[in-house]
Amino acid sequence: MPNTTTKASGKWHIGVIGGSGLYEPGALEDAQEIRVASAFGAPSGPITTGHIGGVRFSFIARHGAGHALAPSEVNYRANIDALKRCGVTDVVAISAIGSLAEEMAPGDFVVVDQLIDRTLGRARSFFGDGIVAHVPLADPVCPRLSQFAGEAAGKAGAKVHAGGTYVAIEGPQFSTRAESHMYRQWGGQVIGMTAMPEARLAREAELPYALVGMVTDYDCWRESDADVDVAEILTVMRANADKARALIAALAEALPATRSASPIDTVLDTAIVSARENLA
Ligand code: ADE
Repeated sequence: MPNTTTKASGKWHIGVIGGSGLYEPGALEDAQEIRVASAFGAPSGPITTGHIGGVRFSFIARHGAGHALAPSEVNYRANIDALKRCGVTDVVAISAIGSLAEEMAPGDFVVVDQLIDRTLGRARSFFGDGIVAHVPLADPVCPRLSQFAGEAAGKAGAKVHAGGTYVAIEGPQFSTRAESHMYRQWGGQVIGMTAMPEARLAREAELPYALVGMVTDYDCWRESDADVDVAEILTVMRANADKARALIAALAEALPATRSASPIDTVLDTAIVSARENLA
């Protein structure tokens, strides 16, 4: 993991991982599209970087150009590594999610604060091969960044739920009805296919991570509703696209002029258990 951070300067540099329609040309001053190589393979696509006000933002489309990558095919390690190499200090992820809770209705935004990982076999760590690290993940998102992102979503006109437990499934199929009921019993409130291992890897990369989910459907647990399908998701996504973009602009305004240190910035200091001489 390269250490190209701008954190020491006290400046924010927000990495945004979102859908392909999230970045609109013209949204950034001095926008540049850059291709970043990663030791972990190819990221989902180029990174578009530039400023909104005084804040640098770097966007990557999680599913690649034209939404060509399924959730299991996204190279989460390369995406996080590429953002880190660009000098990103914090990551805001924006995703479509299903709702497992009556009060979280299609169209609402949920600032996720907990995650249950049901993904299978995705590369979920930068470590291994002689270097063992155990980062804490009890609170997988950054409370400070989540607070700013939630306020920004509110300013963008969204109905916002501050907090929600996200169940990350492997997909690409949606859940069975029995699974959907089980996730609700587990305490899941929303469901999606991408937040894991993204959140784990952001933590290993010492990047504070916030996740704003845009509810597109009620999955399949609700008796009175039709079961989720892609057409429904796309309709709600299109209706919400402007709000998601406005959220980013509002976040640029809401961030304090100076970024103070986060405990997540140095989480590896106490996480690596391998002998120092193993660290080349
Ligand atoms: N993304 C949007 N809606 C979803 C659902 N119901 N299940 C999994 N991922 C989703």
